[in-house]
Amino acid sequence: MPTKIPHPPRKLVTGNLHQMNGGKIMDRLIAVTKDFRPILELKVLNIQLYVINDVDLAKEVYDDHFYDKFIDKPVEHLRSVAGDGLFTAYTEEENWTKAHRILTPAFGHEAIANYVPMMLDNVQKLLDRWAKNGINIDVCEDMTRLTFEVIGVCGFDYSFGCFDNEEQHPFVEAMVFAIEECVRRARTAPFLLPLRFKKNKLFNQYVDYMNDLLDNVIQKRRSNPQDYSDKIDLLNLMLQSTDKLSGTGLTDENIRHQIVTFMVAGHETTSALLSFALYSLTENKTILKRAYAEVDAFFANGSERIISHEDFMQFEYLRQILMETLRLYPPLALFTRYAKEDRFIGKEKYPIKANTAIIMMAYHLHRDPKHWGPTPETFDPEHFSKEAFRKRDRDAFKAFGHGLRSCIGQHFAMLEAVVTLAKILQNFEFTYSGPYNLSYAESVTLRPENFKLDFKRRKQPS
Ligand code: HEM
Repeated sequence: MPTKIPHPPRKLVTGNLHQMNGGKIMDRLIAVTKDFRPILELKVLNIQLYVINDVDLAKEVYDDHFYDKFIDKPVEHLRSVAGDGLFTAYTEEENWTKAHRILTPAFGHEAIANYVPMMLDNVQKLLDRWAKNGINIDVCEDMTRLTFEVIGVCGFDYSFGCFDNEEQHPFVEAMVFAIEECVRRARTAPFLLPLRFKKNKLFNQYVDYMNDLLDNVIQKRRSNPQDYSDKIDLLNLMLQSTDKLSGTGLTDENIRHQIVTFMVAGHETTSALLSFALYSLTENKTILKRAYAEVDAFFANGSERIISHEDFMQFEYLRQILMETLRLYPPLALFTRYAKEDRFIGKEKYPIKANTAIIMMAYHLHRDPKHWGPTPETFDPEHFSKEAFRKRDRDAFKAFGHGLRSCIGQHFAMLEAVVTLAKILQNFEFTYSGPYNLSYAESVTLRPENFKLDFKRRKQPS
């Protein structure tokens, strides 16, 4: 029997706008939607959207035959920065399929093994920074220094000098402004957009600056390939690859879009994961003790032992900790899909209109008690023990999105996070710099706000 989809109380014209306005948007969305399982409907002015909070119902929307990624307003605006790069492209765009085919092997297990030395190099810079001064460290800020550098070096052999200067590199400043501006544009009535003279001018200047910098890098490689032939990075791969199906490669403009995409999609997410992991370990001393034990066992035969890609599997408990962190604090707390035609879901119960945003609320899906037990709010890495993993429905965990449009950088991110966490635990003890209650920062990703730690060098275990 078709049933009306429930919704929080609405106002006549503005709908649920009053529940979304003021305060931090992510906090509000989490709070407004949490008591509606399995589904709710929101109306914000004339925009209608559905929110799914239940794993079993979500499964129906994961059917790629009937549903696909929805390019929502902020992502549409982001296209003026990242064009038809993988994240912002429509699935039916030719450049998405082509780039997906060319780039998938570049992010496979075998290929990312090449990036471990570059990751370790930058992790060492982070450790040196904390060894010099480890007091009152803004964890998200320093993790972002790390993840930005790692993407720069692995992506196109470029250092932004994040560890050499306290001030941000102009590229970082430009990119952060551009992303925030896209989110602000999405929340602004279209007729007001051309009137934001100052912001629009600055936006165009920043985007031009980013494009020029990247075009220069690409041009240098195109003109002197022999000088860069030994570089193992994503840029060389994109310049040298031809798509087997179409027989063509990526254009220089598309390559630039992909690089911006990796910078945007890859830095804040991994930084948030590492920050929440340290938060969770600070809160859970027994789990921290076991993590130290795993790391100490690895370095038992020499503290200088260099981590390689093959060692990734040896840090089983660290991986469990990171996965559990992604469960409770998915850096992208939601992703959005749409039905290609009108449909019913939930055993023909809920009517879903075609081309309407369906928010898959990973934050709530990861707390669905049917799949995560009666105390889903508890941080418990055993949720990702081999046995628990084997028993659990694969669709219960969606921190990296779904299907064809899921995260291409997930193995890269997990490798970087494991390597970083292992080296931090090998070298440091950490405690809160002051009293701390978790709250989420206002940003595109979920991040702990004002999260500060004191790092103290560890005495090497005897
Ligand atoms: C912990 C770290 C990360 C998390 C939690 C994460 C999460 C996600 C999620 C949820 C999506 C799907 C978005 C959607 O459906 O709209 C996605 C897509 C994507 N991610 Fe990640 N990501 C992470 C790291 C990375 C890294 C390191 C890179 C690249 C170096 C990257 C590149 C991408 C790209 C290119 C896409 C779009 C894929 C496509 O649609 O073809 N991500 N990511």
